[in-house]
Amino acid sequence: MQKLIVNGGKRLRGELKLQGCKNSSLPIMAGTILCGEECVLDNCPELTDIYSASRILNGLGCKCRFSDNRAVVNSADMNMTEIPEKLMREMRSSIIFMGAILGRTGECTVSMPGGCELGSRPIDMHISAMRKMGIDVKESYGKIICRAVSGKAHGAKISLPFPSVGATENIILCAVTADGETIINNSAREPEICDLCGFLRACGADIHGDGESRIVIKGKNKLHGCEYRIMPDRIAGATYLAMVASTGGEIILTDACVAEIEPFISVLEQTGCSISTYDDRIYLRSGSRLKAVRDRIRTMPHPGFPTDAQAVLMSALVNADGTSIFEENIFDCRYRHTSALIKMGADIQVLGKIAIVKGVPELHGANIEATDLRGGASMAVSALTAEGTSEISGISHIDRGYEKIENAVRLLGGDMQRV
Ligand code: EPZ
Repeated sequence: MQKLIVNGGKRLRGELKLQGCKNSSLPIMAGTILCGEECVLDNCPELTDIYSASRILNGLGCKCRFSDNRAVVNSADMNMTEIPEKLMREMRSSIIFMGAILGRTGECTVSMPGGCELGSRPIDMHISAMRKMGIDVKESYGKIICRAVSGKAHGAKISLPFPSVGATENIILCAVTADGETIINNSAREPEICDLCGFLRACGADIHGDGESRIVIKGKNKLHGCEYRIMPDRIAGATYLAMVASTGGEIILTDACVAEIEPFISVLEQTGCSISTYDDRIYLRSGSRLKAVRDRIRTMPHPGFPTDAQAVLMSALVNADGTSIFEENIFDCRYRHTSALIKMGADIQVLGKIAIVKGVPELHGANIEATDLRGGASMAVSALTAEGTSEISGISHIDRGYEKIENAVRLLGGDMQRV
């Protein structure tokens, strides 16, 4: 089992190109199934979750290969419609393949997806939407067996009870080649949804309204292959900004999706960091000690403050001057990183969905274990701020979302080794 050894207390300083986005690459890879031709995806991050998606595609009979952040997927010879349980369990996004396989073949067999343990993560909205689109869904011995009643999915009016990112993606993927028109009300507005729709439009799909809460899709008989560049990863961007801010450093983040990171930047600015943006660059300079954030930090669907950036911001605030208050509104178990931060000397009190973070003068290094992706990243942020050495285990969680995190940190002058 690999670990990260971090010697903290160094100011991070330098220029970093932001990696491609994990959470749009995954549904886009699923979307390649609908084309039946070759798709070339540039700026695709090389991450363990992306390799899982590639194993799913290859298992279905598609051909997927990677080199230098370019994924080439050819789905012409796809000949399977079932994803084995072992592959389903590797990540949450395995469920997104359901909509795409159904869109291509009218049938598929999956099982409950895996992914980070963030509390209960049901798929009821996905299933209910598929049923509205004419799919018969049965559960049998842990398998979810789906079949279009008339051989092909049809369009439907779907109102989501909550703007679920995954459910919105699954509906879009099933709808782009379905018969007729699909309308999604209360759809998720996350930038990754727009990236997926951008890719599908490049393949010939007819989609309007992405980025808003009503998406309209007119089903097309056939899509075609394309070459597409994946957007930058706003959550990895927030993580590196939090890291640099908490070490009192300075960074130019290039190839950054400035507008998409804005909800995070507007909160980070309250800590006293000076942040400016120019084209696709973000420049951040941090003072010696951050100030606590005076407004309650409420995680919300986009364009609210992202739940995926809650843990890394908390790490930047554990040794800020004053008290910051977090309210986690998306997942019911997303404070698992706090016990590691407390072990490093942080003063955090968790009361249900609220976390009260009283800034302490300094953190000390400790042996800690990552238990989920963003929680693991937050431990890396704190380890870089702490005095002394930290050893982070469980880093397979971090590798699911950050491309060679230790290289990025070393490029900025930090001391982080993988052993
Ligand atoms: C996506 O997860 C992201 N994952 C998550 O990022 C992110 O935290 C989340 O959206 C919210 O922004 C990927 O894109 C791969 P949801 P997803 O469906 O689609 C409940 C990361 O760290 N819900 O919007 O699973 C659900 O339990 C990951 O990169 C239902 O109740 O999120 C949650 O409370 C972690 N029934 C809320 O909705 C359903 O059928 C939001 O979930 C579906 C969801």
